[in-house]
Amino acid sequence: MLRIGFLHSRIRVEEKLLIEELNKRKDVEIVRINDGGSYFEIDHKPVDVDVVLERSVSNSRGLYISRIFEANGVQVVNTAAVAERCGDKYITSQLLVQAGVSTPRVLMAFDQKTALEAVDAIGYPCVLKPVVGSWGRLLAKIENPAMAETVIEHKAALGINHQIFYIQEYIEKPGRDIRAFVVGKECICAIYRASDNWITNTARGGQASNCPVTPEIAELCRQTTAAIGEGLLAIDLFESGQGLTVNEVNHTMEFRNSISTTGVNIPEKMAAYVIAQAG
Ligand SMILES: Nc1ncnc2c1ncn2[C@@H]1O[C@H](COP(=O)(O)OP(=O)(O)O)[C@@H](O)[C@H]1O
Ligand SMILES: [Mg+2]
Repeated sequence: MLRIGFLHSRIRVEEKLLIEELNKRKDVEIVRINDGGSYFEIDHKPVDVDVVLERSVSNSRGLYISRIFEANGVQVVNTAAVAERCGDKYITSQLLVQAGVSTPRVLMAFDQKTALEAVDAIGYPCVLKPVVGSWGRLLAKIENPAMAETVIEHKAALGINHQIFYIQEYIEKPGRDIRAFVVGKECICAIYRASDNWITNTARGGQASNCPVTPEIAELCRQTTAAIGEGLLAIDLFESGQGLTVNEVNHTMEFRNSISTTGVNIPEKMAAYVIAQAG
């Protein structure tokens, strides 16, 4: 019997589907681990499992608990290293730049004056993002210097995490972007996310439709996993004037809107990957 630790917070539609898929396997036993449900002694395996599937909604809980399992010899999907690289937009961008993977230009600044200088240097419009975050929260598209000054002042007042200024070039998209799903190193399917809003997250009303996996998408996914690490990932791509470019990589992605849209059973492929990692 293979014991799979299922690390979770709230059980969303995604977690239900993953549990269903794992339950179809007669040789698998699911051991649920609630990320807030108990404390963790760090010098031994918290639970006797062969592998852990990390599905925490909380980036930090997922990361710490993954480290504890890995430190005690248990393989975690995604690995703590991959989670760390995806969980912080600066780290993702830095690794992509170093690997020569196409990605929008990013400037970093750490106080209000230099943040303003960085925004001027990158030009308008540009985008300010918290380095840790998702669902399009607290993103700001900066259109002009007056707006830059206002947003930067507001961010500085928000607290310590917002004084790390991640300033990204704005990419003119054709009213949509692409989300590519990766299992292991391979892109298994992709969706377009279309929206009248410049923020296209489906959590913010973006409409999903099937995006055929072109050789360009497949190749960019391979380059991205080579830079970030393989695993169960969702890669956000923009269609820019100069071809596709990688915006960010997500490590505990939602996929409920992408199964019937693509015709690919994403949770089944994810479950198979986790089982293969344990073996
Ligand atoms: N530099 C950019 N240029 C154009 N659109 C952007 C840019 N950055 C973000 N967006 C839009 O906002 C969405 C959310 O941004 P993203 O960086 O993926 O943050 P999150 O982690 O919150 O999903 C993207 O899917 C895209 O539609
Ligand atoms: Mg995103």
